[in-house]
Parts: sequence; structure tokens; C-alpha cells
Amino acid sequence: MSIYLDYAATAPLRPEVRALLARCYAQDWGNASSLHRDGHAARMHFEDARERIARVLGARVEEIIFTSGATEANNLAILGWMRQQPRGSHLIVSGIEHPSTWEAAEALTYEGFQLDIAPVDSSGRVDVAGLLHRVRANTALVSLMAVNNEVGTIQPVAELARLARGWKLHVDAVQSGLVGWPELAGIDMLSLSAHKLGGPVGSGCLFLRQGLRLAPLLIGGAQEDHRRAGTSNVIGALALAEALEATGRQRSEETGRLTELRDQLEAKLGAIDGAVRLGSERSPHISSWFFEGVRAEPLLVLFDLEGISVSSGSACSSHSVEPSRVVSAMGFSPEQARGLIRFSLGHASTEKEVDFAGRRAGLLVEKARRQGGTEN
Ligand SMILES: Cc1ncc(COP(=O)(O)O)c(C=O)c1O
Repeated sequence: MSIYLDYAATAPLRPEVRALLARCYAQDWGNASSLHRDGHAARMHFEDARERIARVLGARVEEIIFTSGATEANNLAILGWMRQQPRGSHLIVSGIEHPSTWEAAEALTYEGFQLDIAPVDSSGRVDVAGLLHRVRANTALVSLMAVNNEVGTIQPVAELARLARGWKLHVDAVQSGLVGWPELAGIDMLSLSAHKLGGPVGSGCLFLRQGLRLAPLLIGGAQEDHRRAGTSNVIGALALAEALEATGRQRSEETGRLTELRDQLEAKLGAIDGAVRLGSERSPHISSWFFEGVRAEPLLVLFDLEGISVSSGSACSSHSVEPSRVVSAMGFSPEQARGLIRFSLGHASTEKEVDFAGRRAGLLVEKARRQGGTEN
């Protein structure tokens, strides 16, 4: 039995995307910059993908910049925007951002920019008053994710977007497929990634409000109106468009179905001795826990031996024993932050899978405890 419960790390391809990729790799492999007919056909497909994505988001076509994913989109938004500002300018990111936002912001401090971290409460929600308290006269950017990838908490993006202000707002909307893309009014930049939505890894985009200019990260070509050099990933763009549209079409059905599955899973996990669930007002696809006295790594191995793939938070940090930065920012102890186990669901998750994982979880937690999975 193989059960995949790690959709927040990456999702299997949706059937419509798999069919599209098979078709495109056979036919639509031209270089969109070439002047011959194959290049022209590729360019038409590429611009069609851009149009479809703009339509889904409610943006203009020229506001969509294709990237290799959300890491690049977040880097481009943060580094690209701040490097256009006077040195010494200030930015604010929340304490629960993905490393692609967090580390880009931190890197800017070595270039003479000033960084503040917005506080979060114990449910993993950014404290808007605390964030606004940190705004200065020279604040140029605030970056806040729409849904946190480790605990699933929905963030007050709309509240920030409604404020009249001098700074720009960047939103990482990678995990908000099930709760819906944020309304773009009041948002200046927004990052998306295909592979969290049932598309392929290596394709994403940045919405950049018309009239704003970024310092490019990649140079050496005129693609994306000189904002992102490199041969256009035509097939990746089409797959991103397909995954976004499919996510939108199936959202209400998937949200209802996954909320039920998550609740079933949580009923079983919540009955385990010493189980603590993290987050509130969450996207239905993420359910994160710690189990008192148990560290994440040995428990992950036990789940894996049963054929159940879960994770210890963000995939990027799951090869290390570092405590989760997100859980630490929520005020939990380093020991608790080392115990984070994330179950995440998606388009192909079934009741049978969730039932099996939920029923095995209690035994596995007990086993991990017997094996002494903690340093205490
Ligand atoms: C919230 C969030 N932002 C950004 C990323 C990075 O996306 P990508 O894998 O497309 O670079 C991830 C992926 O883990 C994520 O969950």
C-alpha cells in the first residue's frame, strides 16, 4: 500500500495536465523566440497560456511574468523590487514565510537594506497590528503569504491589501489553491507555482502590477519584456494554465471533499495521547501536529515503512533536524518545533487512504515513544 499525504510539498499531476504534457511534448516543442513557423506556433501557445493565467487571476496579460517556480517568483519580487529602492530602504516579511521569501529578505540586509519580521500568534496567523507597528517612513515592501505551507493557516492578506499605504505588497499564494487566489486589488506582486496544483515542477509565475519595474535576476535575453531572460518554457506555461484552470473549476467540490477527509483524519489523530494540532482557520489540505515526547524524524520513518508519505513541515528543511522556524515563530518550544508532522491532502486523496493513515498513526506514535524518539 502506498499512501501519499504530502500534497503541500508537491502534488501528482492532474489527469488533464498529464494528457496535455503528453500531447505537447510530441508536438509543441518549438522555441518561442525563433522566427520560423515552429517558433511562431510556440509563441502563440505561450501567449495563450499567459492570457489564460491572467484571466484566472483577473490580471492583464503584460502583468504575468513566467518563472521556473515560486522560489524564483518570490526572489524576483523581493530582490527585484528592493534593488530598485534607495539603499537603506526597509522591508517587512512575516515570521512564517517560505525560505524563498525569508532568505531573500535576509540576503538584502547584507546589501544595506533594513528588515523587520512581523509577529504571528500561536495559531500561525500574522498579527496585522504588530506588522503595521513596524512600518516606517522608508518601508518599501511588505511580503506576506496567503496560506502558510507548514500549518495551513490562512493569512490576513485582504486586510493588508485594503490599506492605503506607500509600500508595495507581495503575496506568496502558492498554497491557496483550495481557498481561492487573493483578489488582486491592493496587491502589487503575487507568486504561483504549478506543481502544488497538479502541474509539473519547474513552472510558475509572478504577477507584477502594471507600471512597476523590477531589477531582473536573470539577464541575457529579451524574454518576458527583459524582466526574466531564458528560453521560454512554453509547455510549462501551458501546464500552469491548465493546472490553475482545473484547480478553479474543481475548487468547490475539492474543498468540500477534502474538508470531510481532513476532519475524519483529525478525529483519529486527535484521539492519540499527547496529540496537539497546530493552526486555526486553515486551508482544508493541511493538518499539522506534534505528539508529545516524539520527534518528527523517527516517526516519519515509521510512517514511511508503512507506505505512508507525510512530512515534517516544509520539504526544503525536511532533510535537517532543525526545529521548524514557523512553529518556533508561533511560540512553541524547540522540542515541539522538532516534532512537527504535516499531513497534506489533495486532488487524488481518498477516504480509504486517510482512514488507513489515521488508524495506523496511533500505533506508530506509540512505537516511536517506545523507541525513545525524543532527547528528553
Ligand atoms: C508557500 C510556498 N512558497 C514557495 C514555495 C516554492 O515553490 P517552488 O517549489 O515552485 O519553487 C513553496 C514550496 O514548497 C511553498 O510552499
